[in-house]
Amino acid sequence: MADYKMHILVCGGTGCRASQSEQIADNFKKELELQGLQNEIKVVTTGCFGFCEKGPVVKIVPDNTFYTEVSPTDVKDIVSEHLIKGRPLKRLLYYNPKNFYHVASTSNIDFYKKQVRVALRNCGFINPEVIDEYIARDGYSALGTVLSEMTPEEAIQIVKDSGLRGRGGGGFPTGLKWEITRASQNDQKYVVCNADEGDPGAFMDRSILEGDPHSVIEAMAICGYCIGANKGLVYIRAEYPLAISRLKVAIAQAQEYGLLGDDIMGTGFNFDIELRYGAGAFVCGEETALIHSMEGCRGEPTFKPPFPSVSGYLGKPTNVNNVETFANIPVIFNKGAAWFSSIGSEKSKGTKVFALAGKVNNVGLVEVPMGTTLREVIFDIGGGIRNGKRFKAVQTGGPSGGCLTEKHLDTPIDYDNLIAAGSMMGSGGMIVLDEDDCMVSIAKFYLEFTLDESCGKCTPCRIGNKRLYEILDKITRGEGTPDDLTRLRQLANVIKDTSLCGLGQTSPNPVLSTLDNFWNEYEAHVVDQRCPAGQCKSLLHYEIDPLKCTGCTVCFRNCPVGAISGEKKLPHSINQSLCIKCGVCHDKCKFKAISIV
Ligand SMILES: Cc1cc2nc3c(=O)[nH]c(=O)nc-3n(C[C@H](O)[C@H](O)[C@H](O)COP(=O)(O)O)c2cc1C
Ligand code: SF4
Ligand code: SF4
Ligand code: SF4
Ligand code: FES
Repeated sequence: MADYKMHILVCGGTGCRASQSEQIADNFKKELELQGLQNEIKVVTTGCFGFCEKGPVVKIVPDNTFYTEVSPTDVKDIVSEHLIKGRPLKRLLYYNPKNFYHVASTSNIDFYKKQVRVALRNCGFINPEVIDEYIARDGYSALGTVLSEMTPEEAIQIVKDSGLRGRGGGGFPTGLKWEITRASQNDQKYVVCNADEGDPGAFMDRSILEGDPHSVIEAMAICGYCIGANKGLVYIRAEYPLAISRLKVAIAQAQEYGLLGDDIMGTGFNFDIELRYGAGAFVCGEETALIHSMEGCRGEPTFKPPFPSVSGYLGKPTNVNNVETFANIPVIFNKGAAWFSSIGSEKSKGTKVFALAGKVNNVGLVEVPMGTTLREVIFDIGGGIRNGKRFKAVQTGGPSGGCLTEKHLDTPIDYDNLIAAGSMMGSGGMIVLDEDDCMVSIAKFYLEFTLDESCGKCTPCRIGNKRLYEILDKITRGEGTPDDLTRLRQLANVIKDTSLCGLGQTSPNPVLSTLDNFWNEYEAHVVDQRCPAGQCKSLLHYEIDPLKCTGCTVCFRNCPVGAISGEKKLPHSINQSLCIKCGVCHDKCKFKAISIV
């Protein structure tokens, strides 16, 4: 980047591409040529910046000016105002809804202030399709150091010392896993990168592969050297086309540079990587199911032990790690285990990437040191709850996790704390809920997902979850009884204790955590036949207040089932037995005479 005075970083992540970021980059190139600036200012298409909600985003460096919601037609103005006249284009700067100020630099934007980007260090900074840009940021130097200066045991010790734990959900110590796989004697071993990422709403692994594929490739090669494998496989869902294409480009470039293939860097170490495509089943992210799927068999989990480290792909020792886990590896070698372990909490080192979504103001990818509190993530980085509503809960860990409440907001996020609070880290999904969300419906939503995704191999998960779902459905239809709550808990615990794999073992978590934390809400459904959040249609009653009703007839004329009657200029009324609870009358009444009770 040395010859250019300025760089225009245009986000080329999936989200921004869907809003014409490629056209924006092209327009910048054309406009720079028109202005004769092409040799002074370079346009770089990068991976995701994390703040996808404000996309397409464009960043100008070195001044770090951050433009949001840019359209291809804005390019001319950015070039003339910012690049030629030297003043930022105010209308496209990030607008802080809290203090009504436009903010120019990323370092002053709340969304970025508390973030520490380790796994995402290159995302939004380099062009992922140009290997030289990765190399310019110390890329492949860790591989060089490991291959030329360390024994596999010494390298494994560094990973162990760093305290890195698997980011795929389980939090298993990575160095220990490598050590176990190394100790498994066999002439053929495999390194597998788990890029299945099936949690609804999660996109951290996709973003890393789209924005910085070389970091994963480099880490896989280091892992191969450490465990004694010369073959790497990336299992990636086929619905990630951009990540697949960037991985392919990166693998080809690494091969061309002699960083993959035979005799890497002249050290005699051979290692190469192939891709395997998943069809998008959540259960195929579970490592044994993933391996069976790669073998061409049904994507069903099998009982552990044996663990893949001992008997995995084609019966050979296989080290399975998550994309984010791998993305941390090169930087651990470049900056040292002590540096890495200085970030985070006592038992969970480094950072964690979260896909922050739901009812927060700032939705996007967030990377924070382990130990950051939920409050900091939701209120400082996430900017608080949308539309001034009240925070109700946060679902962490995706469908395997649980719902945490106000009392957990100051919990420092790490593997152990989240489990102790009744949820889990999972792969990093974080969905914020507000006062309008019904917790019974939320539990039902997640259970419906796991029910759909259950492979059906074992009875507790296949049939137990179906029964669990039916009870929840009954409750949301207003037909639940207090006994159903006892049955829910009993069945949930049986499924948890007796299912074969992690999917079934964790599927009742949303039910159990909402029972624990929102018991009153369940009671309101089954005792008072009421949904406090006003979400369960069957439990709603629309009523007209005769004192407020002017008899304007708007509701009468709009009710799709003729449930409203009344004379002009006289109070109207609703026939509850005909009402289908569509809510049209409530929305149409200008006099706020219709309430939901
Ligand atoms: C139902 C289920 C789905 C999973 N999905 C993923 C996934 O999408 N990505 C992932 O890395 N790990 C997933 N895991 C965890 C993997 O089985 C495995 O623990 C992980 O890939 C190991 O890598 P790590 O040690 O780097 O975390 C899943 C586990 C279960 C039970
Ligand atoms: S717990 Fe569910 S997903 Fe896992 S093996 Fe049993 S049926 Fe399949
Ligand atoms: S729309 Fe409102 S004010 Fe008009 S008749 Fe219906 S309830 Fe009454
Ligand atoms: S909620 Fe719908 S169906 Fe019921 S009275 Fe109002 S408009 Fe009619
Ligand atoms: S895709 Fe552009 S900021 Fe995420």
